[in-house]
Amino acid sequence: SLPNTLDIAGKKYDTDSNYTNVTPSILSHVNENLHLRKHHPINTLRELIENTLNSVDNTFKTYNSFSPIVTTYQNFDVLDIPVDHPGRSKSDTYYINKDYLLRTHTSAHELECFHDLLLQENITNRGFLISADVYRRDEIDRTHYPVFYQMEGARIWDRSSLALLKSDLSKLENKLLDIDKGKNIIRLIVQDDVSLEGNPKQNYMTMEEYDLCSRHLKRSIELLIKQAFAQKIKNMTTADINQTTTELNVRWIKTSFPWTAPSWEIEVWWNGEWLELCGCGLIKQDVLLKAGYRSDSTIGWAFGLGLDRIAMLLFEIPDIRLLWTKDERFHQQFRDGAITSFKPYSKYPGSMRDMAFWLPDESLYVELHENDIMEIVRSVAGNLVESVKLIDKYRTPDTNRTSLCYRINYQSMDRNITNQEVNKLQELVQDQLMSKYNVILR
Ligand code: PHE
Repeated sequence: SLPNTLDIAGKKYDTDSNYTNVTPSILSHVNENLHLRKHHPINTLRELIENTLNSVDNTFKTYNSFSPIVTTYQNFDVLDIPVDHPGRSKSDTYYINKDYLLRTHTSAHELECFHDLLLQENITNRGFLISADVYRRDEIDRTHYPVFYQMEGARIWDRSSLALLKSDLSKLENKLLDIDKGKNIIRLIVQDDVSLEGNPKQNYMTMEEYDLCSRHLKRSIELLIKQAFAQKIKNMTTADINQTTTELNVRWIKTSFPWTAPSWEIEVWWNGEWLELCGCGLIKQDVLLKAGYRSDSTIGWAFGLGLDRIAMLLFEIPDIRLLWTKDERFHQQFRDGAITSFKPYSKYPGSMRDMAFWLPDESLYVELHENDIMEIVRSVAGNLVESVKLIDKYRTPDTNRTSLCYRINYQSMDRNITNQEVNKLQELVQDQLMSKYNVILR
């Protein structure tokens, strides 16, 4: 039933039965552009971060309307993401065909933006911010949605003018101090990881360059977090402001990305757990060379942060699907530029269904990825599904057969759904699972 071509955002793409796994329900999100919608929390957060970073030295050029369709070269190869990286697999990524996919991160545009900076006559533009929708096949629950928003940021300096980097860094540090002197004081308790063990600097940089550049990166991200939470306090009543609202614990931990070195993630302590907000690092020389920079002329940093997750913390939005609701009771609560807490309105009741089945044979046990089950549910029920959870897995010791049981919670953000409707959806999910993967319902 796969059509020969897909029409996406006015362009035609050939499909490929080995690769194509985008569905109409996923494609319906192309061009929704929540990050540009007036009064929407994602839009407010995007503007807040852009303004905050540009308030220091007005040097970031913003890009907010790149098409989500990119090549595998842009999304993976150019960033040296290995061929066998799980992120490339069809179970994690939405492919249009062998060569085109829905970007899985905004890093897909780094190269063109670095190249663009090189061509700028206005040399004060030495950085960029890209905000856009990104797509990932993933589980279904309150914090995961197949489409979400990222902001990519980057900054570069000529190695011949380290004085500029030094003065940029001190401007940034002063800005952080300024927020502390203001009315909305937010204390950021930072656990930094400055060790280069297992996370080495690149050889072409000096120790001093590494030190200045990574401090500029980390302080920039701390600044935007601090400013965003200060902005939140601004709209709270004094009675609601206490230590838990004015103190924020964050930590830097080392990680690795194929196109940055060293690399870090920043996590924030929130509701009793560490939440990852942003991955980042110093751009590998190789990427700058590919973008056209002269040998070892340039150093810089890049980050990619998840706007949805930060918006959910700031605006106290408990379910990511609310960001996509058409319900006015949601939208009327927000106005541009203000970070206010979402006041839950009465929820429509949910309806739970279990689905137990035998896998047909051993080989399929390997081939059927959990995300494939998620995708079937998503393509049948779309926004009418709140969560899908594996609740039982059983393997017969003698015949080695595997039985799985998934619990699906159907619940709409926008309306009441009837039992009849839920039964119908459940039937469709089961039918598709049987016909696509030959499972045997129990
Ligand atoms: N693109 C990475 C992600 O989605 C984040 C990142 C961006 C890391 C830029 C390093 C540099 O996780």
